[in-house]
This record gives sequence, C-alpha cells and structure tokens, in this order.
Amino acid sequence: MGKQIKFFDIYNQDKKIHLSFIKILKNHFKKSDFILGKSVSLFENNFSKFTKSKYSIGCANGTDALYLALKTLNLPKNSEVIVPAMTWISTVLSILNNNLKPVLVDVNKNDALISLKEVKKKINKNTKVILPVNLYGGIVNIQKIKKIIGKKKIFIIEDSAQAHGGKDNNANNIGKFSDLACYSFYPGKNLGCYGDGGMITTNNKKFYEKLIRLRNLGSKFKHKHEMIGVNSRLDTIQASLLNLKLKSLSKNNLKRSKIANFYKKTIKNKKIDVLQYSKHAVYHQYVILVKNRNRLIKILDKNNIQYGIHYPISINKLDCFKNIFKSKNFVNAEFIANHCLSLPIDPYLSISDQKKICYVLNSY
Ligand SMILES: Cc1ncc(COP(=O)(O)O)c(C=O)c1O
Repeated sequence: MGKQIKFFDIYNQDKKIHLSFIKILKNHFKKSDFILGKSVSLFENNFSKFTKSKYSIGCANGTDALYLALKTLNLPKNSEVIVPAMTWISTVLSILNNNLKPVLVDVNKNDALISLKEVKKKINKNTKVILPVNLYGGIVNIQKIKKIIGKKKIFIIEDSAQAHGGKDNNANNIGKFSDLACYSFYPGKNLGCYGDGGMITTNNKKFYEKLIRLRNLGSKFKHKHEMIGVNSRLDTIQASLLNLKLKSLSKNNLKRSKIANFYKKTIKNKKIDVLQYSKHAVYHQYVILVKNRNRLIKILDKNNIQYGIHYPISINKLDCFKNIFKSKNFVNAEFIANHCLSLPIDPYLSISDQKKICYVLNSY
C-alpha cells in the first residue's frame, strides 16, 4: 500500500501562513478583540470586493446564512420555496426553520444542478423564493431563472456554500442577478476557516441593514434592539484568518480547475461518467458517477486513496424529511445519490497523485 492520498488537506494548504496566523491570534489575545469589531468589517468589505457585491454580512455558519437570508424577506407562513432535491440538508432546513414550505425539484443528471424545466413547472401563486444551489462549485444560470420568473414577485437566493469565487457562463459574479447569496466557511470549503463561519452578500441596502441587525440579536448599535434577532455573528478571530486566506482563493480555485481538467481528459472508463461543470465552475468537489460504487470504493481503499460521497441520500429520502416528501420521485437526484463519488481535488494535490488516481480509475 503506497502513501495515503488525502481527500483534503487544510494543514498542507495553509502551512505557509501558519506563522502569520499565530501572530494574528496573539494580537487578538493582546487586544481582547473577540466579538465583531474591525476584523469582521474588514473581511466583509474584502469579501464584497471579491464577489463584486455591494454588501457582505458575516454570520456564524452557512446554515445560518441561509436561515437569515430567508428571514430577511419576512414572508407569510407556508410560502413556497423551490429548492433542488440534491443538496446538503442545510438548504432545506433553513426553509423549514423559517416556517416556509420547501418545494423540491429534481436536478439535471449531467450537472447535478437544479432543473430549470422542473422549476418552471412548480411555480404558482404561493411561490415566493427560488433557492438554487451552486452545487460542487458548478454555477446555476440565474439569468435564465429570472426569465422564467418574469414579472412575478419571486426572490432568488443562491446557496453558494460550495462556490466561493464562481462565475456564470458569461463571467458574471455570483449574486449579480440574485437577491441574496449565502456562503459557508466550513473548513473543507474552497474558502474555509478553523471552525464555523458564514457570509451573506446582497446588493440591496434594505436587506443589508436588516441582516446586520438580525445576526446580532436585532441590534446594530449597543443596547438598541430594533427587531427580534439571533446570535449568529462571524467569529472575530476566524474573520482575521479568512481575510488572510481570501488572498489565495483565486489561485487555489485555478489549481482546482487544472486538476479537474486533468481528470476530465485522463479518466477513460465506460463504467465512469464525469459530471459536467459550468464554464467558470470552482470545483468544490470533482464528482464522478460510477457503476457498482461499492466495488470501486474497495479498490480505492486498497490503494489508500481517500474519497467522498456528496451525497449518499437525496433530500426526499432523508429520515427527518420522509413524511414531508413522501410520494415524490426525484429520479436524477436519487440516481446521483446512488452513483456519485467525489475524487480528491485539494488544490495542492500533486501531479503524481492525480496520475495514480486516474490509473486506478481507468483500471477499474
Ligand atoms: C450546499 C450547502 N449549503 C449549506 C451548507 C451549510 O454550511 P455550514 O456547514 O457552514 O452551516 C453547506 C456546507 O456544509 C453546503 O454544502
């Protein structure tokens, strides 16, 4: 058995800046600077510049980002929110925790992104939000969704927890055409911190003013609580570390896309389909669809190659949602759940490891 090929290695990714992290930590300790403050607003400003959005609001994690984004809209109970059947559970939890109704739609088999044909079918007078997910770093065409919506008053929130720095096929930044975009800084994300963290971006000043209060117990100014909020602040130390890491995000995204290109041209096996990614995807995961996944998993284990499954169960089949989406069939989401396997796509994955992975896959 050769050396292990890791799925993801944040230690290796960041080791060049560990000393700077320690300096940053000492500075926070020295100044007793732990809650909101300058480093959070500095990171928010830099994230706005990076995403070309007017406003960024840090919060505790990506799940909260989605929860707060929906809460900001102040929708009537049971308003319908259209959401894909293949995503991480948080996307759907944020809807239910706002007392809104998730309306699941299937995804495309070739790219795992929300099917716009299905979205069109599900829009009715109760539809208030469409919540597409930029899954695996592939980017949904929001302009097409806007066309489908037409003059109806339906908001769009992009779940971009897996797509920091992604652009649509016309090179427009995430958030340009949607009302709000939500990000996670979970350690394994394209931009990850050392714990939990999240961000909401928007170009709408009213949403910004509301979100800046909602995330901090309803308060922008000390002891002035203007609305019922929650405690979901972006941790101050994490904000400082993220600010430093943001500088290498574009470079790391480029490294990811180079690895993805290598996989795409090198994997040649009839039992394996590679997922199609949009033009300016940021390859959070590199997902293949494989026949007899369990057999391949055994071979990967034998070769000491780590892998991921994103996700083994489609939303409609999760235990906690079974009663909600009882009689619905989501053929593509379920197919992807049963056949998907994510290959290592750490930006620093060596060429020799990439070659070994392809060799193992091609001999399967
Ligand atoms: C698509 C998607 N949405 C939401 C989240 C939630 O983010 P967090 O784990 O920071 O709460 C994640 C990440 O875990 C995600 O992948």
